[in-house]
Amino acid sequence: MRIVLKIGGNEIDDAAFLAQVTALVGTLRKANHEIVLVHGGGKEITGLLKSLGIETRFVDGIRYTDARSLGATEMILSGGINKRLVKILQLAGIGALGASGVDASIMVAEKITRDGQDLGLVGEVSAVNVRVVENLIREFVLVLSPVSLDKNSGGSLNVNADYAAAAMASFLKAELVIFLSNVPGVINAGSVMPRIKESEFEELKKNGVITGGMIPKIESGLRAVKGGVRIAFITDADGARKIASGTNAGTQVTV
Ligand SMILES: Nc1ncnc2c1ncn2[C@@H]1O[C@H](COP(=O)(O)OP(=O)(O)OP(=O)(O)O)[C@@H](O)[C@H]1O
Ligand SMILES: [Mg+2]
Repeated sequence: MRIVLKIGGNEIDDAAFLAQVTALVGTLRKANHEIVLVHGGGKEITGLLKSLGIETRFVDGIRYTDARSLGATEMILSGGINKRLVKILQLAGIGALGASGVDASIMVAEKITRDGQDLGLVGEVSAVNVRVVENLIREFVLVLSPVSLDKNSGGSLNVNADYAAAAMASFLKAELVIFLSNVPGVINAGSVMPRIKESEFEELKKNGVITGGMIPKIESGLRAVKGGVRIAFITDADGARKIASGTNAGTQVTV
């Protein structure tokens, strides 16, 4: 089956986390599943921007991106993190090919605003080069940076990695998408919700239970499911391992 895994940037520099992800991907490949591994890089991007004296601002968990931040974002995501993941997988004997949305127009995006607020050079995926992706994932784990090709300018656009994973999963007609983060799922009143529905999401967002990066993540789960993906989960590395072996873990997103 086709599986899209999205791994968050909070732990992408943590050896134990990377070992867990590698083991998971190895197991899935051995079982002949086709994998796209979309990665974020939030923490490292913020770190580089800080050292460049660029202040980071988020609108509903989405990073406002000006031209300088986009350069730094592309460097970290499509360069540093993407290649780090490719190397780690290959070291474990897993064939991996790294690309960003820009390469072979794998993901073409269009600029967006959010509730009328300008987000700078931020876009959402409007087209995926499905033929190329299908060919690649037969042979390789496709390690994908979410930076995408701007349909109108031919430049790059920053795309939140969760949205990119949802778009990829929908265009590819994946059966499963897992948003793997540094939290075990969507937490409400101290416990992980086994499932979240769209109606509950709106309420929990309004009440301030769901904030920051969890907002685009749940929206992405909903988009994926509406886009035809059978199963969407938000969980951590341990939860993803359980899901891969057939046990539910974390939070399933349903409409
Ligand atoms: N109700 C909630 N339950 C769990 N986490 C929540 C909740 N509300 C907000 N969060 C925050 O959402 C964060 C996850 O989103 P974040 O964007 O930081 O990570 P990511 O998407 O995994 O990484 P990246 O953005 O680098 O790809 C958690 O670390 C937590 O701080
Ligand atoms: Mg995020």
